[in-house]
Amino acid sequence: MPAAKKLARQHSDEFWERAIKVIPIGTQTFGKSPKQWAFGTAPNYLQRAKGSHVWDVDGNEYIDYGMALGPIILGYNYPRVTEAIKDQLEQASILSLNHPIEVELAELLVELIPCAEMVRFGKNGSDATSAAVRLARAFTGREVILCSGYHGWQDWYIGTTSRSRGVPKAVRDLTLQFPYNDIDYLNALFEKYPGAVAAVIMEPSNFEAPQPGYLEKVKELTRRNGALLIFDEVLTGFRMSMGGAQEYFGVIPDLAIFAKAMANGMPISALVGKAEIMQLFSEVFYSFTFASEMLSMAASIATIQELQDKNALPEIWKRGGELKRGCLELIAEFGLEGTVSCTGYDVWLRFAFTGKDSRESQALETLFRQEVTKRGILMRTSTFICYSHSAEDIQKTLKAYGEAFEYISQALKQGAVEQSLEGPIIEPVIRGQLRVSG
Ligand SMILES: Cc1ncc(COP(=O)(O)O)c(C=O)c1O
Repeated sequence: MPAAKKLARQHSDEFWERAIKVIPIGTQTFGKSPKQWAFGTAPNYLQRAKGSHVWDVDGNEYIDYGMALGPIILGYNYPRVTEAIKDQLEQASILSLNHPIEVELAELLVELIPCAEMVRFGKNGSDATSAAVRLARAFTGREVILCSGYHGWQDWYIGTTSRSRGVPKAVRDLTLQFPYNDIDYLNALFEKYPGAVAAVIMEPSNFEAPQPGYLEKVKELTRRNGALLIFDEVLTGFRMSMGGAQEYFGVIPDLAIFAKAMANGMPISALVGKAEIMQLFSEVFYSFTFASEMLSMAASIATIQELQDKNALPEIWKRGGELKRGCLELIAEFGLEGTVSCTGYDVWLRFAFTGKDSRESQALETLFRQEVTKRGILMRTSTFICYSHSAEDIQKTLKAYGEAFEYISQALKQGAVEQSLEGPIIEPVIRGQLRVSG
């Protein structure tokens, strides 16, 4: 096995030294903290990107599977999207009144997303999930929220996690988490809070597929109890299918939130849903200066049209399928079936590592990321595939995976997993919840 070269990282380390003096935790996004990557091996700073490739501040090139934590669906700096942004910039990025582009984008979403009769825009996924929760509370006159998955940084949700500092208890008490695919648990929550639940908000699927009938039962239970069903499609939207997971699984919620992939990396989110509920925004306050920013709207229209014209999502599924199959073969080849798993949908995969205890599991994950990074592959727990990932990218990636697996199996045999690390073990952002991109 060829030894992996150590990457140049002088500039990455210099910027980080400067950052921690002026930026609390050194970053704007937990998911971009070096602690979430193989610290000391992975770059701390990237400089530019094109297609599926990124370059760090020291000039190293990588095939990227982070995809900016999910938004990049076509590829970085994708010509049609870049052109649309430039054209819009020539007109204006934001104005004192509305611009027709927001009507065009809203109509496009209504056409594509099954539950969408009306649309409101935001900048982050968190804007739109929080607006949905407020709207549901106003519509039902109830306060309790039941949630499953990750829904962003706002009080109503983050108060339910280990990162709840600063969230008042009164707010924390109003949201309860339920485990995915456990209909009895959800039923018990409805029984515990009769007539009090405003909404069930959930990721319709993440890495785990719904058991047959699960989403239908959630919908039925929610309706029977007079609550609204909200699908958080921040991740599934414009990745799983053009109409989101609701189209893919054929279960239509009352409201849904789209964000990440809808504009190939520009900051925009959308809350969509039934007109009867959405009309209540006449009374519910959801209004802010940059909600009608138009570069992101232009990017979104171009992204959606390109996904349609190229029928891109099936291609992305195909490429991701090749990566997943190749990866499973390698796991078997190196006898790592009990140690490494590669699961999830072909468009966004998940690697999980199982050691003798949770510390060794996380050390194994860190070691894997360390070794693939040195071989030119940049990835986190989620592996996102985009339309620009080529067959050659997949082959190079599988070669790097194979070498990393070989290294890991040797380290395991020698009982030297932690000793093989060149930096600290990756820390979860939220305890008990490894996959958080915000
Ligand atoms: C399913 C889901 N909902 C909501 C959010 C929050 O989105 P944002 O980080 O844009 O506020 C995320 C972010 O990762 C997400 O994955």
